[in-house]
Amino acid sequence: MDKSKNYTINKDYWEKNIESYSGFYYVNSEENIQLPFGLSVLYKKFLFPLERKVTLERYNNVCAFIDKHVKKGMKVADIGCGSGVFSKKLLEKGAYVYAFDYAESAVELTKKNLSTVAVSNIEVSQFDITKNCIPDVDAAISIGVLPYIDEVDKYFHNILPHTDRFLFNYIDKNNLFNLTRRMMSFLDVRSYSYHSQKEISSLVHNNGFSIAENKKLGTGFILELKKN
Ligand SMILES: C[S@@+](CC[C@H](N)C(=O)[O-])C[C@H]1O[C@@H](n2cnc3c(N)ncnc32)[C@H](O)[C@@H]1O
Repeated sequence: MDKSKNYTINKDYWEKNIESYSGFYYVNSEENIQLPFGLSVLYKKFLFPLERKVTLERYNNVCAFIDKHVKKGMKVADIGCGSGVFSKKLLEKGAYVYAFDYAESAVELTKKNLSTVAVSNIEVSQFDITKNCIPDVDAAISIGVLPYIDEVDKYFHNILPHTDRFLFNYIDKNNLFNLTRRMMSFLDVRSYSYHSQKEISSLVHNNGFSIAENKKLGTGFILELKKN
């Protein structure tokens, strides 16, 4: 599949599914995945519970990062904000938040979900991180986003020069389950982009950052980067 086709599929997917996906944080996802009915039922029955477990583990990791590093008055970017679940946490810590997402539906959902909190401390914008760079901030997070981006060099280029710390996750190209689902595309219901530890580490170091933490998360990793 060529890259632009994959990009359009992913963007359309999130335009339609971001609200349903955010159900993972409460009960389960209601996403309309890209599979014929029978396979979709099986995927939802057996793989959604595992995906929910990873989503909740990821949620705890992100909250720990926010608790440790985000202080009142800091500027923080939430790239690929989705439903605004982490923007809300950042606002509660007293940060000024830039919430970005390329899906208009995610922008609207974030605005709706945050309408009762400190709206004067947040800017929510429709923004594609492969095409625009973030403003200068103290910290940035981008959770569940690199799994939909092939151009990891552009992604880092638009983020790392503008922050001191960065938390993000990716799906490991060399993980056994991912090797299988890349061959059996019906298991790849969200058209993921996969990356290798080698590629990520080299780009991190070339951008003047070091890896402060690197934890396994599901079939990938969650990394905290620190400017050298
Ligand atoms: C799996 S959801 C995660 C949402 C949220 N960060 C969370 O952890 O709940 C991925 C989000 O990334 C957004 N996204 C994907 N590619 C993007 C890009 N190139 N620029 C900005 N947002 C993007 C999608 O629209 C979607 O809202």
